[in-house]
Formats: sequence, structure tokens, C-alpha cells
Amino acid sequence: MLNKIALIGAGNIGGVLIQEIVRRRLARNVAVVDVKEPDLAKGKALDIAEGSPVISGDIKVEGAKQYDVIDGADMVINTAGVPRTRRPDGTIPTREELLTTNLKITDAVSGGIQRYCPKALVISIANPLDAIVFRLNMNLKPPRERLFGMAGVLDSARYRYFVAEAAGVSVENVEALVLGGHGDNMLPIRSACRIAGMPVEKFVSPEKLDAIEERTRKAGGEVVKLLGVGSAFVSPAWSALEMAEAIIFDKKKIMAASTLLQGEYGVNGLFVGVPVILGANGVEKVIEMELTDKEKSAFENSVQSVKQTADEVIAMTSK
Ligand code: NAI
Ligand code: 2OP
Repeated sequence: MLNKIALIGAGNIGGVLIQEIVRRRLARNVAVVDVKEPDLAKGKALDIAEGSPVISGDIKVEGAKQYDVIDGADMVINTAGVPRTRRPDGTIPTREELLTTNLKITDAVSGGIQRYCPKALVISIANPLDAIVFRLNMNLKPPRERLFGMAGVLDSARYRYFVAEAAGVSVENVEALVLGGHGDNMLPIRSACRIAGMPVEKFVSPEKLDAIEERTRKAGGEVVKLLGVGSAFVSPAWSALEMAEAIIFDKKKIMAASTLLQGEYGVNGLFVGVPVILGANGVEKVIEMELTDKEKSAFENSVQSVKQTADEVIAMTSK
């Protein structure tokens, strides 16, 4: 159990995070900050605090519009940013189109963390994922193990779910990794997908796997289209908590995280989704896995997209 977890943003994902942190008893104190009027964070915190006697949870939950509520937090989970929303013509913006708005929000978030909990470990969820973590890193300059982004856990869960459905087996039997940037050219790694330790191709045809991988790359957009307003929020919150629990319980668990690469995979200075070991110190090791030639070139393609958005982030800073 940590002393204090801070949530930035009390919207859809933030709301699920507060509930789950209280229910799972991950911290003695949960603080949530959101600028939304009249006082969204306070309202959500009060709702959950008032329900806590029913679930026997002596956990202090506080919400506010001002950042001082996150003072002294050990861990921050950042969800502050506008989500993708279906336009009236039925099309949906790419995650990158959220960049301009979400960069301004991210600068405010960085200011709050810097001022009130500069040593906290930060898990960021806001989109465009890899670019927002890149910006947080520019602003906060923490040790690399203390700041990373959540996307690969969600993308891998989606891949696992689709594979389990196609194979007619339990989702618990499917192991899989999705790497690269959290964009439409993310990379489901078929060579690492196993069903109870056996290669996925033993259960699912190559053609069906092609379709599943395409669906995985577009899975975020599929939910956006169905919801009409906003994007997936329960599965992203659970995925971030998978990462938080690996740290809180020092599990040394391997999962995909958007991490600052320092030469691994031939990449330097960008946040890209790769397998890491998560433990008490955060990202304790970046794992360089063997990729097939086809996967290597798809990974490079995805890194190119991440680089393009990171370049936009740098350009927007100097304006
Ligand atoms: P939401 O709109 O429900 O909540 C975001 C909240 O951030 C809002 O309540 C807003 O008032 C708040 N906010 C804005 N500026 C703020 C500031 N300066 N300080 C504190 N709070 C501020 O959105 P939702 O659904 O919770 O999604 C949050 C972000 O997560 C979006 O950018 C979305 O695209 C992204 N996302 C990322 C995923 C991933 O896999 N990494 C998956 C799904 C969504
Ligand atoms: C998702 O993957 C939109 O990034 C969001 O659901």
C-alpha cells in the first residue's frame, strides 16, 4: 500500500481509477485534481468517500480544482486531456489531432507535479500517448525509470481478447505483446503470441490473425465510434492499474510500457512501447526482444510516426 496516489483528471478514466484504487486498497490517501467546473474532482471524490463505509475502506479520498491537493503523492496517474470524440460527419480525429489541446494541458499538469510532488513516479495515459509522455519528460526531466506511458498493456489486452475469442479458449491462456507507438501502426507481435505456451498459429489461421491484428490497431477507434462521445475508459483504467500494482507490490512483471529509449532497439530519446520489467523502482529494465524481419520493419515504421509527433512537440515548444 502506498501512502498517497494522485490522479490528474477526474473524467471517465479518472473516475474508474478512484473507485478501483479505493476498492483494491492501493493507497491510504487518494487525491484527484480536475479543473472542470463547478468542481468535478470534489464531486467524484465525495461520492466515493461517502460509499466507502459500505465497502469497509478507511481510505481518505479528496478532490479539488487546485493542484495542492496532490501534495506529497508517491505516485501520479495522469489522465488530463481531451479524448477522441466522433465528429458529426461520423469520422473520428486521430490521437495526434488531440496534440495541440493536450500539450497545453500537459504543461499545466507538469507544473502541478513539479510544485507538489516532484519525486512521484508518473504513469501517463493522456493522448497522443507517446508525445504527451515525451512532453512530460521535457518538462520534468525525471530519472527514466520514474516516468512512462500506459498504452501497450491495453493494446495487448485487446489483442489477447480477440485471439481468445477466435481460438475459443480462456483469455487467461493467451499471452501477447503489442509494441511501438500508440497509434494506428502499433505492432501486435505475432511471434510472441502464445496460447498456453503454444504458438498462436496452432489455433488461429494466418488470415484470421491478420484480421485480428488490424482490428487491434484500430480497436480504440472502434470504441470511439460506438460510444459517440469520448473513448474507452474502463479498460484503460484497469490497464494502468496493472502497471501501478506491479510497482506497489514490486512484482517485477513484464509488460509493454512507453519508455524513454536510450539506444535500445536502435532508438534514442523517444518514448516508444517496448517490453519492460516493472517493480518497486518503476521501469527496472528494458527488454530487447528478438523480432522477425517483418516485425522489425513494422517497428521502425511505428517509431517513425512517434518521431514525427515528438518533432511536432518540440516545434510547438519553441513557438
Ligand atoms: P475525460 O474528458 O473524461 O477526462 C479528462 C479530464 O481531464 C476532464 O475531466 C478534464 O476536465 C480534465 N482536465 C483538463 N485539463 C486539466 C488540467 N489542466 N488539470 C487537471 N485536469 C484537467 O477523458 P478520459 O476518457 O478520461 O480520457 C483521458 C485521456 O486519456 C484522453 O486524452 C484520452 O484520449 C486518453 N486515453 C488514452 C488511452 C491509452 O491507452 N493511453 C486509452 C483511452 C483514452
Ligand atoms: C484507445 O486506445 C483512444 O487511445 C484510446 O482507446
